[in-house]
Amino acid sequence: MKSLKIGILGLGTVGGGTYTILTENKDLITKRTGCNVEVVRILDRFKKPGVPEELYTEDPDDVLANSEIDLVVETLGGIEPATSFMLQAMEHGKHVVTANKAAVAASYQKLHEAAEKNGVKFLYEASVGGGIPVLTSIQNELQGNRFLEVMGIVNGTTNYILTKMTEEGADYADVLKDAQAKGFAEADPTADVEGIDVANKLSILIALAFDKYIAPTDIPTTGISAITSEDIAAAAAEGCKLKLIAHASLKGDGSVEASVAPEKISVSHPLAGVSNEFNAVYITGDMVGELMFYGKGAGALPTGSAIVGDIISVAKSL
Ligand code: HSE
Repeated sequence: MKSLKIGILGLGTVGGGTYTILTENKDLITKRTGCNVEVVRILDRFKKPGVPEELYTEDPDDVLANSEIDLVVETLGGIEPATSFMLQAMEHGKHVVTANKAAVAASYQKLHEAAEKNGVKFLYEASVGGGIPVLTSIQNELQGNRFLEVMGIVNGTTNYILTKMTEEGADYADVLKDAQAKGFAEADPTADVEGIDVANKLSILIALAFDKYIAPTDIPTTGISAITSEDIAAAAAEGCKLKLIAHASLKGDGSVEASVAPEKISVSHPLAGVSNEFNAVYITGDMVGELMFYGKGAGALPTGSAIVGDIISVAKSL
C-alpha cells in the first residue's frame, strides 16, 4: 500500500484536532485514499496525553529535513517562524498544508512560487472559514464564474461576541473571555477584535476569487472593539444585526473594492442568521448567482477537518 508520512509543526488546538481526526478516522481515510496516512513526527515542546512520546521533537529539522516525511502540516500560527518553516519544507520537496491565514496572506505569492518551483502542493483550505470548504469550491467547482461579490463572516470570536451582545445583552469583555476559553480566539485576541484576522482571510478570498493579491494591511479594516450596546440597539431599530463583514466586490473598471468593518445586515439577509462561532461566506457569481457556505469557522475538529481534507487530496494525487 502507498504511504503518506506526515510531520506536524505545532500540536496546539488545530494541530491536535488534525492528529485526532487522522487517528480516530484512520480506517476510513485509508479506505478512501488507498494510502496509509501516518503522523511520524511532531514539533512541540508540550506533550499531549494519548500521543506517543517518541513522535515528539523540539528540533524543526527533524520534521523539515526528514527524508521520511512527505507532507508537513503547519499549525504553529503567526507569521514567523511558520513562513520560513513552510518554505524550508517545500525546498526539501515536502507538500505543505496549513491553517495559517496570517502567514498565507502575508506571503501569498512567495509561498505559491516556492511550491511551484519545488513541484509540491501548497494547500490552505483551513485558513478561511475553518471547516467550511469554501476555498476549494472557489478554485474548482465555481471556476466557470466571474465572481462579483464576496461577503463573509469569517471570525468565530467576533461573531460569538456580537451574537451574545445582541441576544443576551452580554458584556463585551466577559464574552471575549468565554470565546478564549472555548479555543476560538487567537493567542492575542487583538487580531480577532480589531479585524486583522478577518483582513488576512479576506486577502486570501480575494486572491482566489478575483485573481488579485491585496495585502491584508492594504484592506481598510475596522474591528468590533468600539461597538457598544447602543450601536446594537440602533441596528435592531432599523431591522438589522451588526456583523463584522469581510466584503469584496468587483467594480466596473475591473478593480476590487475591499473592506473589513461592522455592517448593518438586514435580518432578512441569510448572513443575519449566522450566529455564535459559526462562519459563512456569501458569494455572488455571474453564472451561479448567490451561494452561501456555512459552518464552524474555528475550533480543533472543524479546522482539523479542513486540514485533513487537504491531506487526503494530496494522498489521492499520489
Ligand atoms: N481566531 C479565529 C476565529 C480562529 O475566531 O475565527 C479561526 O481562524
